[in-house]
Amino acid sequence: MEIIIKPDYDAVCAEAATIILRAWKKKNNLVLGLATGKTPLGLYEKLIAIHKNGEIDFSTVITFGLDEYLGLEETNPQSFAFYLDRHLYRHINIRPENIHRLSGRPSDIDEHCRAYERKIRSVGGIDIQILGLGRNGHIGFNEPGSSLTSRTRLKSLTQETVKANASLFEDEKDVPRFCLTMGIGTILESRLILLLASGEDKADIVARAAEGPVTAFVPASALQLHPQAKFILDEEAASRLALKDYYRWTQENKERLSSFTRKE
Ligand code: GLP
Repeated sequence: MEIIIKPDYDAVCAEAATIILRAWKKKNNLVLGLATGKTPLGLYEKLIAIHKNGEIDFSTVITFGLDEYLGLEETNPQSFAFYLDRHLYRHINIRPENIHRLSGRPSDIDEHCRAYERKIRSVGGIDIQILGLGRNGHIGFNEPGSSLTSRTRLKSLTQETVKANASLFEDEKDVPRFCLTMGIGTILESRLILLLASGEDKADIVARAAEGPVTAFVPASALQLHPQAKFILDEEAASRLALKDYYRWTQENKERLSSFTRKE
């Protein structure tokens, strides 16, 4: 696990965009797993900007949405399908057939989830999974208590998550109580995981996820088990990390390391 501390939110998004661009240059048919929420918005803006200036062509890129509210149609502005379309897809040249999403209204939930897993496998797995971090430690909608080996499935949202997401709905009672989400086991199979977090209100949960025990109680702590997980944080989100100075030191020293690995 690597902790990258950046001065501010903009730099967090720029770092993630640079990693994606570098990966795309090596593999044009990059498979991305995409999160929603406020945190990745700046990253999507940067991806749109680098697409518009001709640096990245999305026509061969394949995407998978991380989660979806159960009960919402794709056309509902609160659905995650709508969010990804509004904040990314409609601004880039991704092919509609390369966009994969969990349906908010599947006719057979279990089969829909199994088919999603099969689809991920059929394209060779996810190369880069983008994640935000819920205040209770959830990744995707894997709420506390989710099995660390869970697969794509139906989940009940916690009251806390319903409250946290209520501002996007007219009334708290309109917030769906259920969702479909890639499981923690599904997420852990991605080759590279980028978890983005920004702001003081994420500082405590970032520290628990990165430096606390691996526990289903804090789903993001499962990322400690992944060989290529990067937490990209701004100063505020990193402020309660015990080993903050060490992470900074290793980042500073990375420059020296590159002299040993010129080919990279
Ligand atoms: C939502 C999403 C997550 C997201 C999280 C944090 O409930 N399902 O994928 O990472 O909450 O959201 P935000 O980035 O707005 O803090």
